[in-house]
Amino acid sequence: MFQISAPIRSHRALRPDIFFLELEAPSIAEKAQPGQFVHIKVSEGFDPLLRRPFSLHEIKGQEGTLGVLYQVVGKGTKLLSQRQAGEEINLLGPLGKGFSLNFSGDHGVLLGGGIGVAPLFPLAESLISAGKKVTVLLGARSEGLILSREKFSGLGCRVLVTTDDGSLGEKGNVIELLKKYLTDHPVDFLYACGPEIVLAHVDRLGVARGIPGEVSLEAMMGCGVGACLSCSCARKDENETGKKYAKVCSDGPVFSFGEVQIHGR
Ligand SMILES: Cc1cc2nc3c(=O)[nH]c(=O)nc-3n(C[C@H](O)[C@H](O)[C@H](O)COP(=O)(O)OP(=O)(O)OC[C@H]3O[C@@H](n4cnc5c(N)ncnc54)[C@H](O)[C@@H]3O)c2cc1C
Ligand code: FES
Repeated sequence: MFQISAPIRSHRALRPDIFFLELEAPSIAEKAQPGQFVHIKVSEGFDPLLRRPFSLHEIKGQEGTLGVLYQVVGKGTKLLSQRQAGEEINLLGPLGKGFSLNFSGDHGVLLGGGIGVAPLFPLAESLISAGKKVTVLLGARSEGLILSREKFSGLGCRVLVTTDDGSLGEKGNVIELLKKYLTDHPVDFLYACGPEIVLAHVDRLGVARGIPGEVSLEAMMGCGVGACLSCSCARKDENETGKKYAKVCSDGPVFSFGEVQIHGR
C-alpha cells in the first residue's frame, strides 16, 4: 500500500453528476488489481476529515495512471468534482481484496447496477486478456446512467442493457435481465457490483443455482485499512479462525457468494 500525492492528469464531467478522474499514480497502478480501491482525500483541508473510497475503473500499469468513475452524492464527492487537472490529490492504495481472475470454464458474466459498473471495467479487461468470454449486463434507472457501455463493447464483451423506464435496452431491472439470461445461457462465474438490493438478489440467485461468483460491497469507511472496524459486516458463517464479522475494506470489498450477509435496502 502506498500513500502518495497524485497529479490529476484529466478530470471531466460525463454527465452533470458523473465524473471521470484520471490520476498519475505509477506506484499504485503497477500493483493494483481489478476490484481494489483507493482512499482519496477529497479536499486539501481537514473538512471532511475522512477519506472517501473509490474503486479503480481504469488501471494502466504501463502508463502509470488510474481512472476513477464516480457519482456526486454528497459533500465529499462534490468537493472532489471541483478539483482541477494539474492539482495533486492525496490517496492511499491499492486497498482491499479484488476479484478472482481465475475460474473454471470460459464464460464470465459481469453485472453492474448504475455507478456499480466502475470496478467491472478492469475486470473485463483482465478476463478478456485471459481468453475468457465476457458478457456484461448493465442496469440503471434511465439511459443517462448506463455507463461505459461502449468501453465494454470495445473490449469484445457482449453487452446487454436494461433500464427501469425503458429509455435504453429492455424495460425492467437488471435482476430480471439476469434471470432471463440464465435460462438459456450457461454461465461459469458471475460478478456483481451495484446497489445492495441488487447484490443481495445476485448473491441469493448464485447460491440457489450453484453458480459461483463474487459481489463487490460498499460500506461507510473510516480508515480503509482494517484498523477502525467502521466497515464491519456479518459473515454468514464463522470463518476458519472463528471470526463472525468481516471488514469490507480489508477482507473485501469483494466477497464470494454466500460469504457475508447482504441486506438489500
Ligand atoms: C470500496 C468502495 C468503492 C467505491 N467505489 C465507488 C466508485 O467507484 N464510484 C462512486 O461513485 N462511488 C464509489 N463508492 C461510494 C463512495 O465512496 C461514496 O459515494 C462517497 O464516499 C460518498 O461521499 P460523500 O461525502 O459525497 O457523501 P456523504 O455526504 O458522505 O453521503 C451522502 C449519501 O451517500 C451515502 N453514502 C456515503 N458513502 C456511502 C457508501 N460507501 N456506500 C453507500 N452509501 C454511501 C450516505 O449514506 C448518504 O446518504 C465506493 C465505496 C466503497 C466502500
Ligand atoms: S474502514 Fe476502518 S476497518 Fe474498514
